[in-house]
Amino acid sequence: MKILVTGGCGFIGSHTVVDLLNEGYEVIIVDNLVNSKIDVLDKIKKITNKSVKFYQYDLCDYTKLDSLFKEEEIDAVIHFAGLKAVSESVEKPLMYYENNLYSTINLLKCMMKYNVKKIVFSSSATVYGSPKSLPIYEDFPLSTTNPYGTTKLMIENILTDLYKADNSFDITILRYFNPIGAHKSGLLGEDPNGIPNNLMPYIVKVATHELPILSIFGDDYDTVDGTGVRDFIHVCDLSYGHVLALKNKKEGLKIYNLGTGQGTSVLELVKMFEKVNNVEVNYKIVGRRDGDIASCYASNKKAQEELGFKPKYNLEDMCRDSYNFVKSNR
Ligand code: WQD
Repeated sequence: MKILVTGGCGFIGSHTVVDLLNEGYEVIIVDNLVNSKIDVLDKIKKITNKSVKFYQYDLCDYTKLDSLFKEEEIDAVIHFAGLKAVSESVEKPLMYYENNLYSTINLLKCMMKYNVKKIVFSSSATVYGSPKSLPIYEDFPLSTTNPYGTTKLMIENILTDLYKADNSFDITILRYFNPIGAHKSGLLGEDPNGIPNNLMPYIVKVATHELPILSIFGDDYDTVDGTGVRDFIHVCDLSYGHVLALKNKKEGLKIYNLGTGQGTSVLELVKMFEKVNNVEVNYKIVGRRDGDIASCYASNKKAQEELGFKPKYNLEDMCRDSYNFVKSNR
């Protein structure tokens, strides 16, 4: 089977490409490299000893994307490509709506034109907003608090309406919780340029003294230690969930949470990181960050039952692998 992976040079996309190649799939990556680096292709080759065909196209360029579908016999698509910085989406909403929606509509139009009916979509737990209770189940109410999250919800709605109009589509929506960690080889991982928005990349930059101190956004939440609680999942568990989604025999429109089902506080993660890597992470408690929720963790029961999804990496692995990647690539 030939799988088109959009955004396949990115953090989760590249880990998924490795798993797909190891499972014997043929992979094509389309990525505009706006938020990723082309040397990821060499690293994928080093890990798997397999090559992938790469198109440096922007999904917003319909003509280019159409030529790719005309050239390649695509069997299924895994759609990661999209802008994903919450704070940037608040500052530049039009850029997020234009990029994330227009690119997806182009992709789906090409899929219809060339009769490619299987898609796995990278969604996010952010579509749940502030959950009414915990753990979060897939049938919980959906609401978003920032343009990035709203683009994810709008794309879910587009996919839902597309399926209603044409139920020959086979659509899987995967709602990620908080992906962290890196490939054991130290060749793939998350190392955003500049000041990271997300917690783990920030912790790593403080541990390597690239940044002076971590600001912990609030310690007055109703949680175990007052700091925010999240469901951190190893990126390698998350990536393998995409292979399971492709293999899933159930047809139609399916939605799954990909999380561990465990909540961990910010402070607990910082302490675990220090212990596992024998480093100190300087931090200070500051005010809450706008839009943050107190606690968020998944029920992954449906993914376990229907996909056979079973996370195998623990928090120590996530902390060790995150640090190892940045140390190996300094
Ligand atoms: C986690 C916790 C912060 C940074 C977002 C998106 C979600 C997904 C993952 C893309 C919170 C605290 C963070 C810092 C801190 N992204 N924190 N200091 O907000 O749960 O989810 O990223 O798909 O869609 O919404 O992740 O890592 O930003 O924050 O104290 O410097 O860490 O307050 O409690 P979040 P995060």
